[in-house]
Formats: sequence, C-alpha cells, structure tokens
Amino acid sequence: QYKAIILVGGPSRATRFRPLSLNVPKPLFPVAGAPFVSHHLAALSKVKGLTEVLIVGFFEDAIFEPYIEQASNEFPNLNIKYLREYQALGTAGGIYHFRDEIIRGNPQQFFVMHVDVASTFPLNEMLAAHMKHRGLCTMLSTKIVREQANKYGCLVQDPETNQVLHYVEKPETFISDLISCGVYLFDVAVFTEIKNAIDNKKEQDALMIQDSFSTFASADGKLSLERDLLRPLSESKKLYVYVTDGFWKQIKTAGSAISANAAYLQLQQSENSSRLAKNKPDGPEIIGAVYIHPSAQVDATAKIGPNVSIGPRVNIGKGVRVKDSIILDNVTIGHASCIIHSVIGWNSKIGAWARVEGTAVNDHNEEMMKNGVKVQSITILGKEVSVLDETIIRNCIVLPHKELKSSYHSQILM
Ligand code: GDD
Repeated sequence: QYKAIILVGGPSRATRFRPLSLNVPKPLFPVAGAPFVSHHLAALSKVKGLTEVLIVGFFEDAIFEPYIEQASNEFPNLNIKYLREYQALGTAGGIYHFRDEIIRGNPQQFFVMHVDVASTFPLNEMLAAHMKHRGLCTMLSTKIVREQANKYGCLVQDPETNQVLHYVEKPETFISDLISCGVYLFDVAVFTEIKNAIDNKKEQDALMIQDSFSTFASADGKLSLERDLLRPLSESKKLYVYVTDGFWKQIKTAGSAISANAAYLQLQQSENSSRLAKNKPDGPEIIGAVYIHPSAQVDATAKIGPNVSIGPRVNIGKGVRVKDSIILDNVTIGHASCIIHSVIGWNSKIGAWARVEGTAVNDHNEEMMKNGVKVQSITILGKEVSVLDETIIRNCIVLPHKELKSSYHSQILM
C-alpha cells in the first residue's frame, strides 16, 4: 500500500562531488561498502507494505540498469525502477510528471527521499506519526547548529501538534534550528495540491513576464517541492513534521562522504551487523567499525579502523595503518604506509612508507580555515593516482591519473 520515490538528480549537478563524480554518478558512490542509494533501499525494505521504489532522475537509463539488477537481488521484496526525466524538472516536477506510475496500484501514501542525505531514516516512525494527524505530508526534520541553518529548509512547528506553522527554504535570516532532512511522506491526495501549485506558478510567471517586458523572466520549467509546494501546504495547515534525533547528514561534497561513511558504519555496528570486519587471530587488527569487501587482501600486520571501508580487490601491505577513510576498488597500498581521513580512488597505487592524510573536521563544516584562508580538509585521490614511496600527501585533492613523485600539502593537483 506504500511506494517510494528517490530523487537522484542528474549528471550536471554533482560538481561539488568532484573528482569522485568524474568516475561514478554520486548516487552510486559507495559509503560503508554500499552505494548511497542502497542505504535508502535498505531502510525502505524495512517498511511493511512498501513494495515499489521509483528512482527518479535525469541520468541516462544505462547508468542505473546494472545497479537496479543488482539491487533487485539484494532487496527481493522491492520492485525497483528507474524513471528518467527528459530534462531537470525540479524536486516536485518529476513527481508530478510520473504521477500515473506513482498512483498505479492505488497506494495511499508515498515516501519521497533525496539521495544526497545519509540518515537512520526512521520511516516506520514517520508512518506512525503521519497516521495520527490529518495532514497531507509529514516531513522528517532534525535540529542543527544555528549557524548552519540557513543552508537548509527551515521550519517552525507547533510542539503540541507537530503542525508546521512556518516553512522557509534557505532563509536569509535565522528562523529556526529545525531543518528539513529531504525525506517526506505524502498522501496521494497531494497531487491535487501539486496541480494547484503548477497553476499558481503559471499565473505568477505570466505576471512576471508582463511586468519585466522580458522573456528572460520566464519559468525554467522546474517545479520546486520546497518553494512551490511545502509553503502552500504549511499555509493551509496540511504540513506536519517528525523530528528525529537519529543521525542525519547531507552529502554534497566528496569530503562529506567520509563522515557519512563513519555514521553508517557506526549504525551497523550498533545493530551488530554481520557485514562488519571482526578481529581474528590470523587477521589484521580491527579497531571500531570497519567494512572489508570479501575479495580484499589485508595483511595480518595491518591496523585498520575506526570508520574505514575497503572495497573489492584492494590489496593492503604489511604494517599499513588506515583510519577514517574510504579505499575504493582495486587500490594497492604498500608496506608501512598510512592513510587517514582520505578517499583513495579506484585503481590507485600508494607506495611504501607513504602518508596520505586529511584533517578531521567538524560535522557540519568541512572547510578548514588556515591563516584566514579556506583549505581542503579531507584528502581525495581520484581514479588511478599513484603516490610514490616515502611521499606525504596532506589536505590535497588529486585529479585522476596523476603520478605524485614528491610531497604536497594543501593543494589541488590537476
Ligand atoms: N529527479 C530530480 N530532478 N532530482 C532532483 C532535481 C531534478 O530536477 N533537482 C534536484 N534533485 C535532487 C537532488 O539530486 C537531491 O537529491 C535533492 O533533489 C535535493 O537537491 P537540491 O535541489 O540541490 O536541494 P538542496 O539539497 O540544496 O536542499 C534540499 O535538501 C535539504 C536537505 O538535504 C532542500 O529540500 C532543503 O530544504 C533541505 O534542507
């Protein structure tokens, strides 16, 4: 009786996720050993009565085909489809465009989830809260540090009823430290409201064109869930909120993948997941939450963790230390090297006695200030980078295919 839509955007959008998005679309980038979007599917598969997930975006179909095949095996209770927008239709445009597909089979409610967030996704709790009020939408919300609130949709709720009294998308001045997490539960009746929102937008756009004598002011054809729909819903008292104290993070930059990786690994550890690596007499020393792909080779004298994901066919040498990092497929790390707060791209080769390191940053602000200048905190090596023996790469972004023969710090290496 329920469905879900995951909004994945398209290729033009992941600029802040470079250089990693040069080789894989952001929704398929692995954190804690599984693509971003798989964590959404894992949460959806735990909702009883939810049988269909529609992944909506403007990537080419071929990009999601192999993934959907694999995900359908992993989550056999979900029927997973990819629906492609012919152009970016906006966060509500795609939902309206594919409304026939969504209402097919008569679901009563459907979830909408942004792909670029990591969370415990308390979907069953949202459902329970939704059934208690008569609103059309329950949105997931979390409390955030005051200084960061203006980067998100902010809301004010009635603490008694959880009704949203006021919603503003990325406000210029402080309104509230409760923000929208990009996860919603809608009644299907919301399609009438979306239709009204489209009609209002058309009227406003027509007025704007008359006013400005310019066709440049005309609509971009996008419909925004936040601006065009949530606001009128809150004004008509049909918008409610479920505030979570579970973890929630936005994943916009390549660096934020490191904190999402840590959060998911720790969540799996708290659930005693069998996916995580365990200390064995003949194995490497494992500290905290660590994921190691079964095909990876890790020397018994290496020390790994906490918060490390090691991908398929990785080879880790003697005495290597890895901490707070994502090591992608097919990477080789030579003996006695050290990797901290870094993402090591596919097929990269790190020599012996080398050091690749970033700096730990505060959860909601990953840019680091040094002498008043913003610098890169997490070190990211793109695909097929090689780092020679005894070099130190610190706080750098390295584009694919580079060979680093000497040490660098605080640079973007192209
Ligand atoms: N299919 C599709 N089509 N998806 C889209 C489109 C589109 O035209 N535009 C954006 N998306 C997807 C993105 O891939 C992402 O998963 C999600 O929609 C939201 O992306 P943005 O539009 O970039 O918004 P934002 O992330 O800056 O802010 C939104 O999310 C915050 C939580 O992370 C807003 O909803 C904020 O209010 C919210 O706090």
